[in-house]
Amino acid sequence: MTSFINTDEFNPFPVLDYISPEYFCDRKGETERIISAFMNGRNITLLSIRRLGKTVLLKHILHKLSKRKNTRVLYIDILPTENLSDFIKTFSEAIIEDEKKRRGFLEKISGLISAIRGKLVFDDMSGVPSVEISIKDEQEAELSVKRIFEYLAAQKEKYIVAIDEFQQIVHYPEKNVEAMLRTHIQHQHKDNFVFSGSSKDILVSIFSDYGKPFYQSSDMFELQRIDTNVYAKFIKKHFNKANKNIENTLIKDFIKYYHNHTFYVQYFFNRLFEKSGEDVKKSDFDFISELIIKEREYIFYNYRNLLSSLQYSVMIAIAKEGGVSQINSGKFLSKYNLTQPSSVTSAVKSLVEKEMVYFEDGKYQIYDVYFEKWLQKMY
Ligand SMILES: Nc1ncnc2c1ncn2[C@@H]1O[C@H](COP(=O)(O)OP(=O)(O)O)[C@@H](O)[C@H]1O
Ligand SMILES: [Mg+2]
Repeated sequence: MTSFINTDEFNPFPVLDYISPEYFCDRKGETERIISAFMNGRNITLLSIRRLGKTVLLKHILHKLSKRKNTRVLYIDILPTENLSDFIKTFSEAIIEDEKKRRGFLEKISGLISAIRGKLVFDDMSGVPSVEISIKDEQEAELSVKRIFEYLAAQKEKYIVAIDEFQQIVHYPEKNVEAMLRTHIQHQHKDNFVFSGSSKDILVSIFSDYGKPFYQSSDMFELQRIDTNVYAKFIKKHFNKANKNIENTLIKDFIKYYHNHTFYVQYFFNRLFEKSGEDVKKSDFDFISELIIKEREYIFYNYRNLLSSLQYSVMIAIAKEGGVSQINSGKFLSKYNLTQPSSVTSAVKSLVEKEMVYFEDGKYQIYDVYFEKWLQKMY
């Protein structure tokens, strides 16, 4: 390991947000399929476990679409919203952000603002506009939502609206939010929507429960992991471009080691890129993977305090097995000294609720891949 630390070179493995197509790996088929759905007037529901790449895929797609004529794109993350008022605020701010780039901006949006009973305020320091909403009751809120959709309908361009973390709407205190949104979205003939989120159960129930308002109103699209070879090629290309030699088989081994879980792979190669010299050696790979879990150790110890001792034992067992399909099999229970099958079942259930564990491909797996690696090492 060289002590060389990269400070003046751009790191081609962004870990926080979408930058541009060049630093975005693959997802060609997904991008095509989703854009094609929009062009044919269909909406999309995009789901997957967290940190697999839904948000950056949405931004990639919107980036492409924004270059088309007669198309406008809006991205709305509703994770921080708690009620319809917040939803209206977030949605209208996205519209304003988009209008800002156009002529006649103030006049146009002041119509919108007054229609939704909002007030435009400018940040003293940055001058960034935001909307203050003062809504008295549910009826008023519903009317404001209606006005937002009317605003979209009144523009001549086609809107593509991405609503990220859509499952959040089921936590709003107002009743019938699903039904109300469905009604508007159904009548929005010109525009299309993509609903995205990681709470599979909730999203599937919103969109496919017979009798629920959103029943079959959009195509279900479950995002998969990026193919190992494709991801390895992308990684190698960026190392080589920066004049760093790196072995393809090693890259592939480490992609698989992190289960092709995009964020964990991407973050690892970001750190490896930062710390490596002209020749990236196996020892560099090992050093960085050790370093990452070492740096996070304090978080992992904290997890132990947040979980019951049985839950923690179950985490260790799942980590050691690299995923478990039969959580109540005698073999598994006795191997890890888990004596009471029924309490193991409820421990797993609450680990799933806490998003420490997820169930996919017939197996319970640890969400945080680095935590899994640490547990495997420590126990
Ligand atoms: N196709 C990709 N190319 C490069 N990096 C990606 C890609 N998909 C995901 N990532 C990385 O993984 C991180 C998590 O992705 P994100 O879109 O936030 O996941 P999700 O929305 O599914 O929770 C991103 O910040 C980015 O660093
Ligand atoms: Mg996301």
